[in-house]
This record gives sequence, structure tokens and C-alpha cells, in this order.
Amino acid sequence: MKHLIDPTDLTKEEVDQIVELGEAIYADPGKYRDALKYHKLATLFYEPSTRTRLSFTAAMMELGGNVLGFADATNSSVAKGESVEDTVKVVGSFADIIAIRHHIEGAPYVASQISSVPIINAGDGSHAHPTQTLTDLITIKKELGHIDDITIGFCGDLRFGRTVHSLIKALSRYKGINVILIAPDELKLPDYIKQDVCRKQGIAYREVNNIEEVISELDVLYMTRVQKERFLDEDEFERVKDSFVLDSKKMTLAKEKMAVLHPLPRVNEILPEVDDDPRAAYFRQVEYGKFVRMALILKLLEWKDDPAHPMPKPEENFSDRRLRCNNARCICNCEQHVPQSFRLSDSGIIRCFYCDSRAAKNN
Ligand code: CP
Repeated sequence: MKHLIDPTDLTKEEVDQIVELGEAIYADPGKYRDALKYHKLATLFYEPSTRTRLSFTAAMMELGGNVLGFADATNSSVAKGESVEDTVKVVGSFADIIAIRHHIEGAPYVASQISSVPIINAGDGSHAHPTQTLTDLITIKKELGHIDDITIGFCGDLRFGRTVHSLIKALSRYKGINVILIAPDELKLPDYIKQDVCRKQGIAYREVNNIEEVISELDVLYMTRVQKERFLDEDEFERVKDSFVLDSKKMTLAKEKMAVLHPLPRVNEILPEVDDDPRAAYFRQVEYGKFVRMALILKLLEWKDDPAHPMPKPEENFSDRRLRCNNARCICNCEQHVPQSFRLSDSGIIRCFYCDSRAAKNN
């Protein structure tokens, strides 16, 4: 069964096919308006969302299909303690495909292991957000005309920003990618992305701590929000929250064709005065996201049982009683029946199989 849990569940060729189909739908949406008549998408959102949930909803409606689900799990039987697996087993008998957003990292993966229909990870905690990645890729292609050979600056919360982690993984498969990481010390990109993605795939990257220093080099500036809900310590949040703000003055230093992306929602990291700049692509990005999600739903339903489109082989994983996952928000620490499981990363570090956190010694 073909699911989308991590951006690398799709081959580069599959990603390119989805992006190309998204562009074709954007150019002629009427051609696809009955493509999924009588089909149903379930959106199971355990965490707040505006864009992703409504974009999936609009996407399915524009394909002629229907949508069911919940936007607030506290109004479902989750409030009575139902596990994500049981919920997905039940919903799979009502819907042809399921999009799940969950605050617990690894929850969409665990759901995919028992699901009878394709599962789409619509964002799991700080871990991954692969449909935002598809949105980002189609936006880069639409704005610049190509994805290869770009210098992209990631700015803001690179530590907890799942969209950043997923996009760097996806870009690592394109040629000529140069990454500049612009973040305060507290919010730097996790080592595992630097080691297992950038170094392993040979992506050039460097770290700086202000936008002005590098903005003139960038083809894409990817801004992110400093997310209060990801901080365990509120004082730390207060200290860094205004660190990296894009304004019109900084934009005067940028290339004429640079594109400013942001997964949104923004708080104050891009001032509203930037919105009228033609290089501000973040609201167009939302629109492209609907078209690429239409393409994704069509392709996953087409590929779901096609042996030519298998899921990648899972990484080798093992249990070890001396170790535990250090992430309180990981599925293996939140659902008792999900066993702790680990993998050895390319850089030789033992990581949680579900959430990629570094393993800790069991006390
Ligand atoms: N970009 C994004 O995931 O937005 P929402 O949280 O509103 O879905």
C-alpha cells in the first residue's frame, strides 16, 4: 500500500510526477472536476490547522469527491481513549484515503502499518510535513521555473520546524542545491539533518545568524515562525521570538527574482509591508498547495496497490532494553502498545525509529 509519511516515501520521479500533475491541474482545473466522483477523503486532525486541512478539503471537493473527518479530536472517541490505530481501522471502512495531522510524532507511521487505505501524513509534531514539502516544491518550480541549481536560505525556527526538515530532505535529491541556515543558537537545525541528509547527500550548507549577511545570494528565502507550542520553556521562547524579522529594507538587498516562501501561519517574522512585494510568494504558495494535494490524492489512489510504486523498504530497526526514546512527544512514549524501536543512523548515532530523536540510556 502506497502511503506518504515521510517525503522520501516517494521517489524523486514520483515527486516530479506529482508536481507536474499539480501544474497541469493548475492550468486546467475543469478537466479534473469529476476525477474522484463518489470517492471520500477523511481528514483526521488531532492538532490545529487552517491551510492543510482546508486545502485537502478543497482539493477533494474540486476533484468531485467528498470529505469527512474531524478538526478537533476532543469531539471524537479519541477523548474516550481510542488509539490512533483503532480510529484509522474504523475510518478506513468509510473513506478511500486518510490525511492525519497529529501532535504525537510517529502517529501517522503507526497508523499506516495497519491501514487498509492510503495514509497521508499532514504533519506529525516537529517531525515531518511532507505535503507542505510538495507545496514548497511546486511553489519553487512555479516561481523560478526550476528546482535544481538554487541557493535557498532557511530562516527562523530550524530546530522544531518540521517543514524545514522535510524540505531539506526532499531538496537533497535535486542537483546544485546550496543551503544557508539562518537561525539563533537555540533554534539551529538538528544535527541529524545536517549529518544524515546534508553531509550524506553532499549538500553544501553553512550557518549564519542574520538575514542581511546572505539575502543577496538567495534564490529562495524560506521564512518560518518561531513556534511557541514547541517550546518546553516559556522564557526561552520569549528571548528568541523576535530574532529574525523580514522587512522591506532587507528586501532591497535581495535579487530581483528571489521568492519568499513561508509555510504560514506567520506571526511577526515577515512584516505586512513585504506582502505587496512581487517576490512575496507565500500566499500564492497556499494556492499551489491545493493543486499539488489534488495531484497527490489522485496519484496515491492510482498507485496504492501498484507493484511499480512500492513503499521503500523500512530501515533496519531493533529493540534494546538498555535504551529509550528521549522524546516525550513520540508515539512509543504515548501509546503503551507501541514498542520502543531504534535504528542506527548513517552517522553512527542510535535514533528512535519513529521520530528520529537520539536514543537515551534507560534508567
Ligand atoms: N502550513 C501549515 O501546515 O499550515 P496549517 O497549520 O494552518 O495547516
